Amino acid sequence: MALSKTPYRGTRDFFPEQMRLRNYIFSKMAEVSELFAYEPYDGPLLEEIELYRAKSGEELINEQVYNFVDRGEREVAIRPEMTPTVARMVAQIHREVSKPLRWYAIPNLMRYEKPQKGRLREFWQYNADIFGAPENLGDLEIIQLAIAIMKSFGATNEHFEILINSRRFVDYVFAGPINLSPEMTKKLYKLIDKKNKMPAEKFSAEVQQITSDPKKAEIFEKYVSLSSMKDIETFFKETYSGANQEEDFAKSLKPLMTLFSQLESLGFKDFIKFDPSIVRGLDYYTDVVFEIFDKHPENRRAIAGGGAYANLLAIFGETPLPGIGFGMGEVPLTDFLTTHKLIPSFAKQDVQLLIGYLDASAEKTALTVANALRSGGVKVEVLLGEAKPKKIFSHSDKKEPHFLLMLGSDEVSTNEVQLKDLKTKAVHKINLSDVDKMIATIKGSR
Ligand code: HAM
Repeated sequence: MALSKTPYRGTRDFFPEQMRLRNYIFSKMAEVSELFAYEPYDGPLLEEIELYRAKSGEELINEQVYNFVDRGEREVAIRPEMTPTVARMVAQIHREVSKPLRWYAIPNLMRYEKPQKGRLREFWQYNADIFGAPENLGDLEIIQLAIAIMKSFGATNEHFEILINSRRFVDYVFAGPINLSPEMTKKLYKLIDKKNKMPAEKFSAEVQQITSDPKKAEIFEKYVSLSSMKDIETFFKETYSGANQEEDFAKSLKPLMTLFSQLESLGFKDFIKFDPSIVRGLDYYTDVVFEIFDKHPENRRAIAGGGAYANLLAIFGETPLPGIGFGMGEVPLTDFLTTHKLIPSFAKQDVQLLIGYLDASAEKTALTVANALRSGGVKVEVLLGEAKPKKIFSHSDKKEPHFLLMLGSDEVSTNEVQLKDLKTKAVHKINLSDVDKMIATIKGSR
């Protein structure tokens, strides 16, 4: 029986058009990262599974990771995320390097998920992380970087928003005013993380069940209705019952409020919003957490997610080094860009010049000119094999190069050629030995 031509479920073949789009997306991400002085890194595709067991959370380990036992009896996993790898790498060198450390990568990851809009099994995820930044300033920078990346694709605050919360604040609310045990807190975290994916009544019923007290459920309902920094400050004051209000406020809420006021003063007010339902599914986050959301009602999903983690290096026996970062998948990003018509066309290959030759005697000249032009940075395709004008034109119609050069025995003997600009229809008469003029003509036109 013949084998299937389709790729494994949830993975993709990238044909040239899709590959051009992918390269475009990655190059924008890299360009903006470099503008923010982030350095590139990468890690291995396989890691020992313990790396993810330590801090990534049950869902990732129990439901999503691709793992197997290798020939040496070690249990390994295909990377489902990059954060544990980057933490492992930073743990090796952080003592010797000056901080903060700013790194970015665009790895392919695998998660055993049900393939659906925005979610596949193999996907590429842009990651940016900053380690060892002074308090508050890492958050501030990483969110600006996330906005700059979105803007580099032409997106504005009309297209997307960054929903922000803080685990310090959520921890405080759950342990303080709602007064839940750590086990119940964990359950409630999981429930909030799924809030937007379930009907409101089901959500409320599950909240009642976890809190098992109408008063606690009422405080919780109040918490999930908070929508601004002013709201949460009032909520804090109204529900506070401890003995060190100032200290608890400074610990649980001040960093978040500082982040909002700094972002606002830098002109990013219209990009950010407090959202109590953002808690993030991964266990290692300890502080600010955020997600970038599409504002389009038909594509209301997360394009990126991230947060701050204070203790990730501790799993390698290292002293704490706080980090904050985010991951942005190219799958939801592409959906977002498509929804808002922000993707340029990649249907056609970018060939600047097509050279065709009418008889075999012109072949060597065609190949020599092509190489000379390529050395000058011109993208040249040679139509291989002698061809009649009709065939050259028909190939040219399909490929749509910017310029066309046809060589025959006359051109070879006189050295005079006609370089045709297929966009403007202009014809440039050039001597074949004047390569610089040809390069200037091709590169100078748009
Ligand atoms: P995450 O929320 O699991 O976080 O993933 C972040 C982003 O990766 C998502 O918002 C989405 O864009 C993309 N993504 C996740 N799963 C899939 C999938 N199955 N198919 C396509 N895209 C997907 C993390 O992975 C954290 N490690 C991010 C981070 C970096 N936190 C700090 N630094």
